Amino acid sequence: MERKIAASILSADLLHLGDELGRVRASGADWLHFDVMDGIFVDNISFGIPVLKACAGAGGLYLDVHLMIQDPLRYVDVFAGNGADRITFHLESVSDPFRTLDAIHRAGVQAGLALRPATPARAVLPFLDAVDMLLVMTVEPGFGGQGYIPEMTQKVREVRALLGDRPVDVQVDGGIDAATAPEAARAGANVLVSGSYLFRQTDMKSAVDILRRAGGDAV
Ligand code: DX5
Ligand code: ZN
Repeated sequence: MERKIAASILSADLLHLGDELGRVRASGADWLHFDVMDGIFVDNISFGIPVLKACAGAGGLYLDVHLMIQDPLRYVDVFAGNGADRITFHLESVSDPFRTLDAIHRAGVQAGLALRPATPARAVLPFLDAVDMLLVMTVEPGFGGQGYIPEMTQKVREVRALLGDRPVDVQVDGGIDAATAPEAARAGANVLVSGSYLFRQTDMKSAVDILRRAGGDAV
């Protein structure tokens, strides 16, 4: 699977969002990771539709929307209609996963299914042929800047093994930096989300290159 680097704008300087998007484009990152939090599914509230629409209007970036919200099915069409290229939602949310995956595909965008750290890898089994991506959270969702949970490396390995030869992306999100990316990549993750590590760099491009090479061509 092709390696993709997704820069999470949760860690961007929101007062200068346009400049930050320019920095992401110039860095060579493949995707912009867009974290939506509702204060119910997670203990934090981030940003939503108007900010997504602004990012889409700026152009030039694939928008990878990560919904950390209670009832994602209700919002699929509005996120798809405002620029999302891929929508990932949580298996632990209240929406029916099959209906939600179907709604995302019918809206013409790619679909991902996310697991909180406590949810076991085997929970993805019914959905292997219905997803474009599985997201293994490597921190508890809700906040940027947390430390990678080492036990999640084994879960990434299990999820990749369950997928067999299906061409499905495995994404990791949370605490990904130069030190943790190699083990996540070697375990089978091909999409690496990074927020605080990338945005704190003065030279974001070098950091993206480090993540892109981390762990070699493992998957
Ligand atoms: C956490 C979010 C992440 C977050 C990652 O709930 O889903 O996307 O922005 O940030 P870092 O890379 O700082 O852990
Ligand atoms: Zn995220």
